[in-house]
Amino acid sequence: MFIPMTVSRGTLATPFPISKRLSNNTMANDTTFSVGGREFVLDNSKAEQAFAEKKVINGRESVFFNLLPLKYAWAYELYRTMKANHWEPEDIPMQKDIEQWQSQDELSDVERWIIRMGIGYFSAAEGIVGDNILHVIREKVTAPELKLVLGRHAQEENIHADSLLYMISSLGINPHECEAMFEDIPTITRKNEFVMKVSRSLRRDLDLTDPENQKLFAKNVFLFGQCMEGTQFYGLFGMILALYRQNKFPGIGQMFRYTLRDESNHIELLRQLLMALKDENPHIWTDEFKNELRELMREAIVLEKGFIADCLPTNAVGLSQGEFNQYIDYIADRRLEGCGLQALNPGVDNPFPWLAEMMDIKKEQNFFEGRVTEYQKSSALAAVDDDEL
Ligand SMILES: [Fe+2]
Ligand SMILES: [Fe+2]
Repeated sequence: MFIPMTVSRGTLATPFPISKRLSNNTMANDTTFSVGGREFVLDNSKAEQAFAEKKVINGRESVFFNLLPLKYAWAYELYRTMKANHWEPEDIPMQKDIEQWQSQDELSDVERWIIRMGIGYFSAAEGIVGDNILHVIREKVTAPELKLVLGRHAQEENIHADSLLYMISSLGINPHECEAMFEDIPTITRKNEFVMKVSRSLRRDLDLTDPENQKLFAKNVFLFGQCMEGTQFYGLFGMILALYRQNKFPGIGQMFRYTLRDESNHIELLRQLLMALKDENPHIWTDEFKNELRELMREAIVLEKGFIADCLPTNAVGLSQGEFNQYIDYIADRRLEGCGLQALNPGVDNPFPWLAEMMDIKKEQNFFEGRVTEYQKSSALAAVDDDEL
């Protein structure tokens, strides 16, 4: 059913229906939409038709970016939140990181290794995610507001990749060393193969009216959003931000904080997308398929724990391998539950409650040498609220 929607500024959308007629000089069959504080008047019957043709997949293919009427209000709202969180690597001073990296006695080997692993892994992982977003997910979805927010998602992966280049150049790390890590470290190559196996098969024309292909696509959205970005990124996020808490690598830590805030939006975007896909294609959401998704997460957890053991071979610098493993179990269950799937390790506590606070960046404007690191107007500040981290 066609329901005109209002999306108001700064709220995470629970769209509510309006059917507001304009004053006398407006045709009776017009409908007003309020989106992002702006109002638009649409012909009711045209809007109704455009709305009905919008689908996650198998909707109307159009070269026109006809965002109105919004059907997936959450997507447009997320786009606005993401835009408001814009940052650039060069905003962040690296002087202290460089001093620490070059000093002979300020850092332990474990700390250097975590930074190398972080830069090495994410240098390639950000590109893999961005590429899948552009060439698989954005290609296959049909509603313009979904394409809009996915385009922003891909751009944020560009920013993340660029931030890693900035770290590499600041510290003077050989870029080939990072590439080699991605090819030579077995726990990294296994993580890579795990995600690519649901990406390659979708890089061609697929009949998405076939339920088997719909499941393939749903698996891709789940695996990239919930398993990779939502779980497998969090081992290193936790380690690097644990160092940051100890005043090690303040610039790198700050970039990872911005990245983490972005990732929380990517995870939510792909979660919402999966839920909308499932709602429109309920035949795919069988017990068997749900179990397949849980098994994918189980595999992701095993791979991530192997990777954590490589990043942190012994308990050192106040970091415990056991706690990181527990954190992965904890976060994976939050991702599963977010998609309406049963937890794998119910009852596991979060050993790092401080990590969620690390994302709350808005309170710290100008905290580096008076530079403004927020691109948004204060009136547009949207709350970052992901207490599940
Ligand atoms: Fe990223
Ligand atoms: Fe991401």
